[in-house]
Amino acid sequence: MKRTLLLSLVLLMAGTFLFANGAEDGTITVGSNIYSFQDNFMNGVIKPELESYAAAKGIKLEVVDSEGQQAKLNDQVDIFITKKVDALAINLVDPAAAAAIIEKAKAADIPLILFNKEATEAGVMGSYDKVWYVGTNSAESGIIQGEMMVADWKANADWDKNGDGKVQYVLLKGEPGHPDAEARTLESVKAFKDAGIGVEELALEADPNWSTQHGNDKMAAWLTSGFAGDIELVICNNDGMAFGAITAMKAAGVRLPIYGVDALDQALTHIQDGELDGTVLNDGVNQARATLDLAINAAKGMGITDGTDWVIDGPATKAVRVPYVAVTPDNYEDFR
Ligand code: GAL
Ligand code: CA
Repeated sequence: MKRTLLLSLVLLMAGTFLFANGAEDGTITVGSNIYSFQDNFMNGVIKPELESYAAAKGIKLEVVDSEGQQAKLNDQVDIFITKKVDALAINLVDPAAAAAIIEKAKAADIPLILFNKEATEAGVMGSYDKVWYVGTNSAESGIIQGEMMVADWKANADWDKNGDGKVQYVLLKGEPGHPDAEARTLESVKAFKDAGIGVEELALEADPNWSTQHGNDKMAAWLTSGFAGDIELVICNNDGMAFGAITAMKAAGVRLPIYGVDALDQALTHIQDGELDGTVLNDGVNQARATLDLAINAAKGMGITDGTDWVIDGPATKAVRVPYVAVTPDNYEDFR
């Protein structure tokens, strides 16, 4: 009797295990996407880490390119659901279009980890008990970038070219409506105001793709505009756009103070070469790892952070937020 009970328990557990792990051989499969393979940070940092971490964890991962189209992503999610993946790890194209993805996952009872682009629709994270977010505290990157710029501004009296005590800046913004782009734009400039330093915006241009091409085109145009000589600072929401602006400045033979976010390898080289004044580490390696750790736990039906060091911030946002770090000419070598 005892033995039969034990045996049926073992069978029951095995059955649960197989059921929880969709794939026939018991391997966990995760269906994932990147909003655009053209994005420097997403394609250069997040995607390779997702792939190598999946291999290290022994799970099957498929990462598709949503090519900057939310409609395409919706179809890709449908396909993953048809394939019966065990978890979805999704990088939204449109941060205001999370509800549709969450509904699909919920209807199929598949756990969903959103990453990098936080949903902006109010209350949407509460609409499904198996959805979580992995990203950052967006404001933090702008605050850190702002603090760096304020410190350097104070240390370099000659940066105030017209001596009016105010910062005449141009700003390369990322995707409008993206929490990272909005918060970085706001906080980086606010840092000057908070430090009692006046600001004057000469120009601001946004790019949904955060691209180097955009940075180059806009900076080149600003450097031939009527206010070209007035520019004292170039604020960039990410490194990719800063790279383009640096190229434009070199072509025009000027060197203005310039700051990015992400701390890509190329940014560290620009800092080393004296072409970039600072950036902020956007820790894509840990964001990718957290995304898969949560996906694996959810697929196994375990507690979402079991066996990990990740912390969920609260019931409304259900987010793991990986910290940002200031990267300056003094410490950039630590980030190679
Ligand atoms: C941000 C990153 C940008 C861009 C964007 C895409 O976190 O700093 O460079 O990759 O995500 O959503
Ligand atoms: Ca000035």
